[in-house]
Order: sequence, then C-alpha cells, then structure tokens
Amino acid sequence: MKQTGRRTFLRLIAGAAVSGSVLDGLLQKTGSHPLGPASAPTAEGLKLGLISDLNGSYGSTNYSSAVERGVTLLRQQEADLVLCAGDMVAGQKRSLTNSQLEAMWAGFEQSVRAPLEKAGIALIPAIGNHDGSSQQHQGRWIYGRERHQADLFWRKHRGDLQSGLIDSERFPFQYVWKRPGLFVVVIDASSANVDSSQRQWIEKALNSTHRHPDDLCLVMGHLPLTAVSEGRARAGECIANPQGLAGLLRRAGVDLVISGHHHAWYPSESLGLRLLSLGAMGSGPRRIIGSGVISPPSLTLLEWSRASELISEMTIDLNTMQPMTHHDQPAQVSVPGFPVARRRSLQWQRASPI
Ligand SMILES: [Fe+2]
Repeated sequence: MKQTGRRTFLRLIAGAAVSGSVLDGLLQKTGSHPLGPASAPTAEGLKLGLISDLNGSYGSTNYSSAVERGVTLLRQQEADLVLCAGDMVAGQKRSLTNSQLEAMWAGFEQSVRAPLEKAGIALIPAIGNHDGSSQQHQGRWIYGRERHQADLFWRKHRGDLQSGLIDSERFPFQYVWKRPGLFVVVIDASSANVDSSQRQWIEKALNSTHRHPDDLCLVMGHLPLTAVSEGRARAGECIANPQGLAGLLRRAGVDLVISGHHHAWYPSESLGLRLLSLGAMGSGPRRIIGSGVISPPSLTLLEWSRASELISEMTIDLNTMQPMTHHDQPAQVSVPGFPVARRRSLQWQRASPI
C-alpha cells in the first residue's frame, strides 16, 4: 500500500481510543488533494475495505448517503481492495422485471463499482440473497432471473479481477481470488444451503497448490455460520448445518470468515474460527442479540502487516464518521440452536490460536 495511506490508517487505529472527530480532519485533508490510483497490493502488507448490505428497498436504483460516504472514504483511504459480502442490489422479489434488475445493477455500477475502479480499487463480490439467492424449489432456482442478471453484470466487469481469478468456473457465485500474500475463497452463501458439492469444492480450493502457507486466508460468503442480530436467529438466516463446514475451514487454517446479512458489526470467535459479521453499509440497522446495541451503517478497514504478521481491524460508523468501539458490545451472543459467538480482539496475528 502507499505509505501515506498506511500512516493515515495507523493514525486512525491510534485515534480509535480517544473521543473527538478523528476522521473529520482526515476527510478535509484528503478531500483537498485529489487522489491518484491506489497501488497494487505489495509484499509488505495489505489494506482491505470490507463492506456488505448496501441495498435499499426492492427495486431501488439509488443508494443512501451512508453508502456514498463509505465509497468516498474507501477512495480516500486508498484501500488496496474492497471485499463485498453481498446484497449489492435490492432483488429477491419475483415481480421485479428484467429491466428493473438491470437498472439496479446499473445503479450499483454508477454509485459504487465504477467510482472504486476509477480510484484503482478492485471490488471482489460475494452474492447475497438480494443479488441472486440460491434458494431452490423442486430442483429449480426460485430467483433464477436475479442470478442470471448478477452473472451477466459480474462477467461484464470481471476485467479488474481477471489476473487474480484461479477457480472461476462458477464466478461470481463461487471462486478463488489471489494476490501476493492474500488468498480469498468466495462461497455461495446466498441462502442457508451450502450443499455437499460446494463443501467439497471449498475444501479443494483451500488445499489448492496456489495457496502459499504465508497467505492471509479469508473465506467470504453472505450468510454467517451463526446468529448475531435480532430477527436473524432463525432457520434460513444462517448457513444450515454449520458445524461440518466450520470443521473443514478450521482444518484448512482459515484466518477469518467474513459475512453480511445480519446487518450488525460483531467481530467474534465461534466454532474455533475467527468470524467477522459486517454491519450494513446501507439501510436496516439491527440490534445485536442480548444487548441494546444497534449497529449503525458502517464499513470495516482491515490492515495486514506481513512483517509483524499483525492484523488490525477498524470499523467506521458511516453516520458519525467515527471509529466504533466494540467494548459496549455483549461479550457473547448465545441463542438456543445456534453456535455461541464470543467477542474477540480487533488486533490479532495470523496463525495464532484464537
Ligand atoms: Fe442479505
């Protein structure tokens, strides 16, 4: 990453513990200097922007001001890459016409993907239930038209990602993406059903010879392995039968599992894995189970220093533009029928015990 961007990020990390508008000065400062294209990820480290759940109401082609602020922040922060855990558009309604679906993706292109691309920031997508749910009925996709439109859009825009794609036969639903130091497995968790054939594919992907032992290994899918927010602790809102999948990910030494859909930022440990539930960047803030904390629109910045092996995460409230603290979050989220999730540290080392 560029050194200026790295210094700024470190200042943000340092500023997280203090009050006052840490980002105000940053935004004013960077806003007055047009930015050039972001640098390619280097061997020294990476800065990733992690976003999810941008969509508004069904059929909407516009994005909220929080999404706009988030995209601006990612450009100003000169993220090396942006990973999106799904729900980029507002489909999953059978009355939406093909032209409405196309118009929504055109809106996403205009408001999110193109502005990032212009700043030299590639966007790595996972498909969410509103983008193209994998729910089936009698062996057929219920939202086949949504899946077709998502497929068309991302195949048209895969140019940025082309050099890193390894196993892309099922892109954009399931694929592997790699850059020096980074290995990302994107899974199709656009419904609760991550079936046995996909689990076999995931296992094979994680054990691929393309994966270097020192790579930061991320798995990203839309639905999480366990419940985090109120209203989402029910069948269909989390990956079904998560234990077997978690065991597979654990054995493969996955560093972090990233998900969306629950609209609540909660960094946790569960099932022997390090999890990150992302807050919604757009609308629909949700309360974390067992607490009074409602997760505002947010995005997460993750910086990895290869030299120190240290990963630092910072989540920004897109209403206040302040770094968020997780100390007021519950120490654990425990719901009958779902694996317990325990709050974890925002700084950690690769390959260290959780
Ligand atoms: Fe979702």
